[in-house]
Amino acid sequence: MKKMIFVLLVGILLVGLVSACGKSNEVNGEGEKKVLVMGTSADFPPFETRDDKGNIVGFDIDLATYIANELGYELEIKDSSFDGLIGALQAKRFDFVASGMSATEKRQQSVDFSIPYNHSGEMIVTLKDSGITSMEELEGKKLAVQLGTIQEEGAKKLSEQLSNLVVKPLNKVPDMIQELKSGRVDAVYLDKTVAEGYIKELGLDGFDDTNNSAPGMAIAFPKGSDLVESFNKVLQKMMENGELEKLEQKWLQEDK
Ligand code: ARG
Repeated sequence: MKKMIFVLLVGILLVGLVSACGKSNEVNGEGEKKVLVMGTSADFPPFETRDDKGNIVGFDIDLATYIANELGYELEIKDSSFDGLIGALQAKRFDFVASGMSATEKRQQSVDFSIPYNHSGEMIVTLKDSGITSMEELEGKKLAVQLGTIQEEGAKKLSEQLSNLVVKPLNKVPDMIQELKSGRVDAVYLDKTVAEGYIKELGLDGFDDTNNSAPGMAIAFPKGSDLVESFNKVLQKMMENGELEKLEQKWLQEDK
């Protein structure tokens, strides 16, 4: 009897082990492509946003698709709030994150980053004729930031220097723009490329954050992921063969 129970237990353990392996993005069956799950917050044009049909599109999507393809993977994209991306990576719910994420030292404590693929400054976006033209003039104003971003941190630091600066963290970038248009906040703090897009599209105004020291955007992975090296190789190749520039021309062209 004891022996039977033992055999049963071992059996259950084995079944558990085998099915756990199957989930870890190994080849799932003959001839089928392996799948890489990418997390992103699709609220950040032109890096990731939804088109008219609701598809997630943008610079990061094309970049990730190219890399996945080169490495022989299928790509599955999961839209999630920016604030939750790092935690989800740590929990290995995604294989990687491409979401205009700046590779800060703080984040490097929790995740691994690829080499940077883009550098963007930061900007403050306002309504036309707002009278706010410098960081100092944010004194006494309401500033919207996206939850979990470097702008949220930056704004908190700024509010230690400027009295009465009210920081309003919101989940999605379009909501921040909506708050600005309806006058519930005076300004919005964003990565420059994204800010410039909204300024142009909606006839808004804005100015550069002169204190900006943001590190480049990079792809993030769970700590220790062996994908980092293979992604870096493809990224490096894209920098040399002009593929990265093609994507920049497609998505990031600013008329200067
Ligand atoms: N670059 C900023 C950061 O890393 C903002 C990124 C926001 N990305 C997004 N998809 N909403 O904190």
